[in-house]
Amino acid sequence: MVKYLLPKLSFEYDSLEPFIDKQTMIIHHQKHHQTYVDGLNRCLEKFGGSGHPQYISSILSDLKSVPSEFQNELNFFGGGYENHRLFWDTLSPDSKSIPEGKLSDAIDVYFQNFQNFKSIFTVNSLGIQGSGWCWLVFNSTYNRIEIMTTENQTSPWIFQKIPLLGLDLWEHAYYLKYQNKKAEYIENWWNVINWEYVENRFSELSQ
Ligand SMILES: [Fe+2]
Repeated sequence: MVKYLLPKLSFEYDSLEPFIDKQTMIIHHQKHHQTYVDGLNRCLEKFGGSGHPQYISSILSDLKSVPSEFQNELNFFGGGYENHRLFWDTLSPDSKSIPEGKLSDAIDVYFQNFQNFKSIFTVNSLGIQGSGWCWLVFNSTYNRIEIMTTENQTSPWIFQKIPLLGLDLWEHAYYLKYQNKKAEYIENWWNVINWEYVENRFSELSQ
């Protein structure tokens, strides 16, 4: 039986200050993410106690193979688990601010330049009504990068898109520090992106 665990962070809770505050990080990681971990494990246990042999991203990308009565629950908790797992990995207190290498080249090809990419990503993030995520994804069908948004905890894997970078736009991600100032949260998030992680993820996928 596959049992998912709350992933450990590679940095301290207060190390993203002042951009993401310590209290938000603690609650977001220890409470919210733990809820998705528990929900995912509970859902998988319902599969006759044997779970599912594939990693959650594979399950999400082929959700129709799962019995219909479990699909909504897996979408929510499985997405919530994996979205947050990636979110932590793409944060860093030692951000170099802008991407380099092949990822930088791809951003220039599809978005003209990094500033334009940042602007489009920000507009998409601000456009989310209610809870959701904004993503930089890899579209393996066309071998290109794209920006997309998803509602609630729906993962890009549901649409066979591979997430490279995701911004959590649930209020639980920013409300303690930023209240209604979502634009400020988004602007500050650009200061703590682990571009090396995103670059490596992209390099492994692109041809
Ligand atoms: Fe979250």
